Amino acid sequence: MVLKEALDSESNSESISLRIPLCDLVHRGYEITIGSSNLNSVGLIISRFNSCSRIVILTDSNVQRYGYSSVVESSLVNAGFDVHVEIIEAGERSKSIESAIKLWSNFLSLGIDRSSILVSVGGGVVGDLGGFIAATYARGIRFFQIPTTLLAQVDSSVGGKVGIDLPQAKNMVGCFYQPLGVLIDSASLKTLPDIEYICGLGEVAKYAVSLDTELFNVLEKNAEKIKLRDSELLKYIVKRCCEIKSQIVSEDEFEKTGKRILLNYGHTFAHSLEIVSDFKLFHGLAVAIGSIYAARLAERMGMVDKEFVERQIKLYKSIGLPAELPEELLVTINYDEIINLMTHDKKSESGNLRFVLPTQVGQCRVVKDIDPKIIKQVLCENN
Ligand code: NAD
Ligand code: GLY
Repeated sequence: MVLKEALDSESNSESISLRIPLCDLVHRGYEITIGSSNLNSVGLIISRFNSCSRIVILTDSNVQRYGYSSVVESSLVNAGFDVHVEIIEAGERSKSIESAIKLWSNFLSLGIDRSSILVSVGGGVVGDLGGFIAATYARGIRFFQIPTTLLAQVDSSVGGKVGIDLPQAKNMVGCFYQPLGVLIDSASLKTLPDIEYICGLGEVAKYAVSLDTELFNVLEKNAEKIKLRDSELLKYIVKRCCEIKSQIVSEDEFEKTGKRILLNYGHTFAHSLEIVSDFKLFHGLAVAIGSIYAARLAERMGMVDKEFVERQIKLYKSIGLPAELPEELLVTINYDEIINLMTHDKKSESGNLRFVLPTQVGQCRVVKDIDPKIIKQVLCENN
């Protein structure tokens, strides 16, 4: 599947439009518009989708405070839409069934129907929850993504995975539901707290090490600019990550053929590390540390050499990513519990351990049935 790239002349001249053809469902392809300070183009973009008068913006308390949802609201009102804004409390706890019930009920009171559009403005929490509400309310209304965190811009807003958490497990209830389109403003990253920015970099580095040599080289050469959040560089990084993810999703939308799983480098380790830390270890940091464990596992399996692992660690450190577990987690960690959690991970196959492991910079493959003893050795040896 080839991505068609064209300059979007109607909105901000710096914008890039990616048309994403989705598997054989070509009519559901959508555009990802990437630019800087371009949120006021949303009215024009959504005007292109026919017969919609009512729009609900879903945002969170922080994103609203920074004013991003107001710019989106003004642009939509100026374009002639009847706009209502729903604000959830910022944080993962809002990705819950309680929020969903509240939103479904509010939508009913507001008279939202299948001609309406839900616009999510915020990070992955708002995007995942908004997409889930859109997929389920009235058996499905249209939705549009405006991701404002680095993680959401490079990962969660693209590809149609939407859902909510159960108290026992993250992302356990949900579906695949593609948006009408995605609008990305790289300038919105300027207000991100450092920790959220670093978490986004964890996913960026994941793409580079496991799927894209070009991105890896760019990251290696531009560590200082990355730390300074250089706007032009960020636009390139976001665009490249969206291209990589779009390509993979277009080949395996429903995670059936084994292709989409390749987006999960470091994630088998990461999910268990998040759980054993009681979610004190943020997802993006867990992915970074998990990716280093995955590289060491690949080295142990003879798939890459020591030099590969060292190069990855050097890159991670240079852009501010952790390469090892924080001290407070190291002293309490229980390796058997980690292995047990990995075996029960949503992505394990009938209890068999399955890892995405690198074969060289920018390439990876899925490796199954690894002896848990080897994994324990990798975990223990490096701490
Ligand atoms: P988030 O949505 O909680 O955002 C992180 C924090 O940043 C929040 O406090 C938010 O209010 C704040 N914020 C957002 N934009 C801001 C801005 N521009 N300036 C300042 N503050 C801002 O978290 P996230 O890291 O964006 O996303 C994590 C979620 O994404 C998790 O629920 C995870 O499961 C999900 N996820 C989904 C996919 C997918 O494919 N659907 C992929 C990866 C992660
Ligand atoms: N974040 C991995 C995926 O969307 O499949």
